[in-house]
Amino acid sequence: MTTILGIETSCDETAAAVVEDGRRVRSNVIASQFHLHAPYGGVVPEVASRHHLEVILQVVDAALTEASATWRDLSAVAVTAGPGLAGALLVGVNTAKALAYAHDLPFLGVNHLEAHLYANWLEVPGRVHRLPELPALGLIVSGGHTDLVLMRGHGDYRRIGRTRDDAAGEAFDKAARMLGLGFPGGPAIERTARNAVAAAKPKLRLPRAWLKGSDDFSFSGLKTAVLHTVRGEAAPPPPREEIAAAFQASVVDVLTRKTVDAAIREGARSILLSGGVAANTPLRETLAARSPLPVFAPPPVLCTDNGAMIAACAHYRFDGLRAGWDLDPQPGLKFAVIA
Ligand code: KG4
Ligand code: ZN
Repeated sequence: MTTILGIETSCDETAAAVVEDGRRVRSNVIASQFHLHAPYGGVVPEVASRHHLEVILQVVDAALTEASATWRDLSAVAVTAGPGLAGALLVGVNTAKALAYAHDLPFLGVNHLEAHLYANWLEVPGRVHRLPELPALGLIVSGGHTDLVLMRGHGDYRRIGRTRDDAAGEAFDKAARMLGLGFPGGPAIERTARNAVAAAKPKLRLPRAWLKGSDDFSFSGLKTAVLHTVRGEAAPPPPREEIAAAFQASVVDVLTRKTVDAAIREGARSILLSGGVAANTPLRETLAARSPLPVFAPPPVLCTDNGAMIAACAHYRFDGLRAGWDLDPQPGLKFAVIA
């Protein structure tokens, strides 16, 4: 049995959680900074690291208190080593290192993208718990990445596709900005699109980049189409609810069809949706409806950045992720490079 403290500071959430056996979430504390970045329309790295520094110890204390755990109950301290913002990662890595050293605990460095997949191993109150069957096809859709990864076993991955330009979450954030919907853009687009669908069936259709014959994605053409539509270059612009709905429909259509096709072709036994964009309800529902395989998607609070997924990943990959005291943050850390 393990009881792991997971710490995450790669972007704009300061998070810590205590997880037992990679599944039972005893606490999951997330201090979001989005209100600090909203006025700038995106994450400001320097503001992020400074705020992580201010709150990280309180967040860790809160995670232990909420879990009714002491340092003696812990088996290890795990932290996101990368990828992410350099200064933000530095705060988490150094804090985790110091705490592990002071309490004589193993110290584990976790890949943030791999950890997003492991959010699907966590138990959710009120849901029957099932463990994903491997091999599984993982779709990781976050603010910085869009990757299709075949997970053959714990620590055994092959990346089969990725975005060639913008990440899905980045496209949501940029489209929201063009529509004047604020930051973060994903939830804003989802809310706005819901109004359009409730009012009437949207007529606007935006392009889809299928990149036939490849498992890669591309969202920059769609982004440009949103810009032209907002500017009313070809026709008077439709209401922004309709543009938001058409944008979301395009992203969801491409992500779900390509993921299901790849999963079937690769002989996967389940699909693992993960990353911040996995919080999107139409994406979750469409993927579940289109897939003949079981689809796993964490509850929204475990889709966006959190410490529980870091602790879960650390449990299943304990020996592989043991790090030395000289571990440095790795802002450009890769995951499942084509093998
Ligand atoms: O995984 P995450 O919390 O941080 C990164 O590792 O990047 O993902 C953040 C991204 C943002 O781009 C945000 O707009 C997007 O996830 N997001 C959503 C939704 N909630 C968050 N995108 C679409 N629909 C949502 N409901
Ligand atoms: Zn993330």
